Amino acid sequence: MAEKKILVTGGAGYIGAHTVLALIKEGYQPVILDNFSRSDESLLKGLTKLIGRAPLLIKGDCTDTSVLRKIFEVHGQISGVMHFAALKSVGESVQIPLAYHQNNIQSLMSVLQVMKEYSVRDLIFSSSCTVYGEPDFIPVTESATFKRAESPYGATKQICERILEDVYKTGFRFLSLRYFNPIGAHPSALIGELPIGVPNNLVPFITQTAIGKRKQLVVFGNDYNTPDGSCIRDYIHVVDIAEAHVKALAHLHMTQSQTYLDAFNLGTGIGVSVLGLVKKFIEVTGVSLNYALGPRRHGDVEKTFADPTKANKLLGWKATRTIDQALLDAWGWEKALAAGHKS
Ligand code: UD1
Repeated sequence: MAEKKILVTGGAGYIGAHTVLALIKEGYQPVILDNFSRSDESLLKGLTKLIGRAPLLIKGDCTDTSVLRKIFEVHGQISGVMHFAALKSVGESVQIPLAYHQNNIQSLMSVLQVMKEYSVRDLIFSSSCTVYGEPDFIPVTESATFKRAESPYGATKQICERILEDVYKTGFRFLSLRYFNPIGAHPSALIGELPIGVPNNLVPFITQTAIGKRKQLVVFGNDYNTPDGSCIRDYIHVVDIAEAHVKALAHLHMTQSQTYLDAFNLGTGIGVSVLGLVKKFIEVTGVSLNYALGPRRHGDVEKTFADPTKANKLLGWKATRTIDQALLDAWGWEKALAAGHKS
């Protein structure tokens, strides 16, 4: 049987690249579309080593319908789309909100437009726990109300989910995956997270500080209403996130109905504080880390973690990797980068 072709927008990015690998392992043929605005081509070298051949790649922007049309023409029957391509830095989105709205919303609209033209029905959308804002109840379930988004980035994810809700009735099947905090890297240390410039996210900041690229990690806030005063998050191994996408795609493909819309939390269900994660990193890697307590970061949610029961039951997926493993893999990746093995 011919391999099912899946268009993976943003497939050269952090979560995209891990998902491309997971798709190939399950017998799919991913076609990557990436404009490399926030990703580095070196990640593809690592991916090439892992899969034993160069992945199918188109360099281009998925806000551009002509680029998308060409892919659907040249690659024949695309059986589904995974839409990762988006700008994703909370802080940056406050600086350049128009770019965030233009890029994140236009890219989804272009993808949907061209899917409609080519009668491709199935789409997996990269959403985020940010859609919930500061949740009233934790663990958060998918039925939690969307609070006003704290950032333009969060607003784009809420708007995109609303677009999907409006559009699916016209003959589509959409599934949003709401990621909690993806961390770690592939255990081979051949692919991982490659932040451009100073990292915004916690784990790359930890590993870059531990390796000596950054002087000091600042823990943003120690006066939150949590046991140690720092924020609580649900950190999940990126390979678990990638595997969830493949399960989600199989779930969509098996759906009998012509139209479908659903959303799933991707988390472990375990809340860990920032200080707890820092201490865990020191413990599992045995390296020292220069860190200090600092003021709160604007826009941070105090505590959130997922109730992943719905994904566990309906997708047959469960996060299986531990936080220790995720931190060790993130550290392995940072060391490989420092040794010059970007790939
Ligand atoms: C945010 C978004 C999430 C999005 C992700 C993408 C919210 C609520 N969440 O996650 O949806 O997918 O960005 O980038 O908007 N921290 C420090 N020091 C640092 C960096 C971070 O203490 O140098 C703390 C933060 O204050 C936070 C935790 O670490 O409490 C995790 O931060 P981060 O990795 O940036 O992710 P989120 O903000 O949770």
